[in-house]
Amino acid sequence: MEITEKAPAKINLGLDIIGKRHDGFHELDMIMASVDLADRITIKELDNDKIVIKSNSISVPQNSKNHAYKAAQVIKREFNIKKGVEIFIHKITPVAAGLAGGSSDAAATLRALNTLWNLQLSKEELAELGEEVGSDVPYCVYGGVARVGGRGEIVQPLPNNLSYWVVLVKPEFGVSTPAVFKKVKLDSIKHANIDILEEAVINQNMDIINKNLSNSLEPITINMHPEILKIKEVLSEAGADGVLMSGSGPTVFAIFDKKSRAERAVNSIKGFCKEVYLVRNL
Ligand code: C5P
Repeated sequence: MEITEKAPAKINLGLDIIGKRHDGFHELDMIMASVDLADRITIKELDNDKIVIKSNSISVPQNSKNHAYKAAQVIKREFNIKKGVEIFIHKITPVAAGLAGGSSDAAATLRALNTLWNLQLSKEELAELGEEVGSDVPYCVYGGVARVGGRGEIVQPLPNNLSYWVVLVKPEFGVSTPAVFKKVKLDSIKHANIDILEEAVINQNMDIINKNLSNSLEPITINMHPEILKIKEVLSEAGADGVLMSGSGPTVFAIFDKKSRAERAVNSIKGFCKEVYLVRNL
């Protein structure tokens, strides 16, 4: 039996840093939203006890460092499963991009193994298993729009009635998330207003969402890579309704109410950056 699961990328409509925790992670408050740019995870059971990762992309680690590998390891350990599994990752989402590609692959692996081994776990239970794999994995188990807190383990799904187009622009370089978090100075954080964003999501008010897009990590990553600011400027000049860096970066997203306007912005940005995607929210 073969099981295929989609692993959609996410953007952060808001990311606020509340403080630093005793475990070294940061306490966050975020609004996350899935977009229709997705890897495809295909799972096959093996006769031996191994976890084998394969991919169409050389950017995907094909070893125990892979988040999907860790997800399979956690499930096998937790339910004492002695069977092996081959996980093929058809990579579409750029890696080290701030789009939770690896975390979404892990969440899709959890969902697929839940089906393969008939474990009948709820989303809550899968999200709890995902916590051990990575901070963004619990959210990725749910997908859609959610307010996410703690280290990433508190996921409150929100109504998902929004409709918008997203232009994603991934600069040629990648960004290391720990390197960005290491530069956070708690006394000079530019805070995001997550309450306003949550209310606007509930009221389906794209205007308020676009005006309040904010990411406390953005100034830090821009300081390391000023090219991000230039991409933001070009997208704003191209008529985007709102523009922000996603997660720890470096991908910048721009929001548009109409596809035709988004397509014009894609043409403007292509001179600056080769890796550009036009997608819908999910
Ligand atoms: O959990 P994950 O492996 O995705 O986190 C990558 C790194 O990002 C962590 O090692 C940590 O440095 C940083 N991080 C953090 N606070 C969070 C999430 C991630 O400091 N809430």
